[in-house]
Amino acid sequence: MSSDMPDVTSLSLDAALHVSFMDVDERCTVGHDAVLLHDNSPRQLSNIDQTHTASDERALNELVAPAISLRPLRQIETVKSSECLEGMASPSFRSVGTPRTGLNSSDHHPMLVEAWENLRKSLVYFRGKPVGTIAAVDSTQEALNYNQVFVRDFVPSAFAFLMNREPEVVKNFLLKALRLQAWEKRIDCFTLGEGAMPASFKVLHDPVRKSDTMIADFGESAIGRVAPVDSGFWWIIILRAYTKSTGDHSLADKPDCQRGMRLILTLCLAEGFDTFPTLLCADGCSMIDRRMGIYGYPIEIQALFFMALKCAKLMLKPEAGGKEFIERIDKRLHALSYHIRSYFWLDFQKVNKIYRYKTEEYSHTAVNKFNVIPDSIPDWVFDFMPTRGGYFIGNVSPARMDFRWFLLGNCVAVLSSLATPEQSSAIMDLIEERWMDLVGEMPLKISYPALEGHEWKIVTGCDPKNTRWSYHNGGSWPVLIWLLTSACIKTGRPQMARKALELVESRLSKDGWPEYYDGKLGRYIGKQARKFQTWSISGYLVAKMMMDDPSHLGMISLDEDKKMKTHLSRSASCTF
Ligand code: GLC
Repeated sequence: MSSDMPDVTSLSLDAALHVSFMDVDERCTVGHDAVLLHDNSPRQLSNIDQTHTASDERALNELVAPAISLRPLRQIETVKSSECLEGMASPSFRSVGTPRTGLNSSDHHPMLVEAWENLRKSLVYFRGKPVGTIAAVDSTQEALNYNQVFVRDFVPSAFAFLMNREPEVVKNFLLKALRLQAWEKRIDCFTLGEGAMPASFKVLHDPVRKSDTMIADFGESAIGRVAPVDSGFWWIIILRAYTKSTGDHSLADKPDCQRGMRLILTLCLAEGFDTFPTLLCADGCSMIDRRMGIYGYPIEIQALFFMALKCAKLMLKPEAGGKEFIERIDKRLHALSYHIRSYFWLDFQKVNKIYRYKTEEYSHTAVNKFNVIPDSIPDWVFDFMPTRGGYFIGNVSPARMDFRWFLLGNCVAVLSSLATPEQSSAIMDLIEERWMDLVGEMPLKISYPALEGHEWKIVTGCDPKNTRWSYHNGGSWPVLIWLLTSACIKTGRPQMARKALELVESRLSKDGWPEYYDGKLGRYIGKQARKFQTWSISGYLVAKMMMDDPSHLGMISLDEDKKMKTHLSRSASCTF
């Protein structure tokens, strides 16, 4: 977990951060009535309420446009307010609207209503409009930065609201994040790339001035000071989901959104010294935001990169520089899918092949291209690998294969069609074959297996939060159920998702919706887990709604590109 963001009063203690926060300081006040007067009635089933969006769009446009073009050091906005958004243990409440999901379903699980109630409690309002959901509504623990809106944590919330025909908060979030992207981002004397999106943002309230302040964290407050590489990708993915589910292309078509996408693409398509099409990353730059040995080319980021490129390609307009990006995207997608499908893929045959690798091979005829030393295959791999099944390993770089399993990257690979249909089936086979290891008593293991002993010391830097089978180190994260469920539906295995959902339903609400579980089987509520963790709640909702109406998959999943398929089946050097 990232460290707390310094509060505004303590900023003068830290000169570097002071500069940075003064740059990103933004003020406005929130209309009292606006917060209280939300429409709590159930939405119409077939009609997306578009009436409110035109004026909201205008209001947010007014906020977004000048920031994008001028990149001012300090933006001040003031409207009336008396609603306190600070002290997020009690964020702006909105009473429960009837969830649309389950209306036609035979399965009215009581957890659904409770989940909706909690999800709405996590809504954060800025200028009277919902702009996101905070990470956790747990008043029993120190908030740290769990009282912020994390971009990645908002993903399942966004899908839940879209599936429930409530696109407004998603649109507001997208525009707000876009505006934050336009801020100057500085860590000490160094300025981050223009396209970087924040890991999280927070709305503060000044009860005296009746004004709100927004602060954002681009990595300058995070533990290890790592910028989130995933945020920009998730932003693009949410934008495409919004467009797909509402049919409203006007948001993605806006010059600001087009520019936002191009800025993100400029960062990740930049040419440099790379010999691989994958993105080189620092440790802790994604959901796993502490040192866990994922530096290099982590599968989570590569899969998100691939998915975001495909989504951006669908939304970029050729005019105003978009054409050039579309061409670059095409080339990169091609290279990326070839690289990952070939070199990250591991199954029984491949383990055997690596086991028999010769080393010190030189030139184009080399079979062991990255000079992986067979002795570096950890013992657990030989037992873990079933004869049926396979997966994309954690990382591939010179002489280094991180053989660990990471759920997020593999499910995103299935959903984005980075995995071929055969690979997607094999990934699902593996989960089925290794159910106790990867699902256990509480879905789902974020990574497998845990690092222990000396390896844990070296790789995590003795991190006490990431001890074996806890947190990022082999802990179980209920939020991941939405990813598994979508992958199950895509590959035609709803029964697997149903089984996992039963496990979730047997405990998650009783346990107070924890952030994560500990232990080999995920049996124990995590040592430092927050309760009422928003993405544990929204992840469950998304999974349920998708099981109820599998057509929702369309906003998350992308079809395979036929051109890439042809290329791979013809490729002589392809290894599967
Ligand atoms: C932890 C998680 C990170 C998440 C944040 C807020 O830091 O590692 O992925 O975004 O909490 O929930």
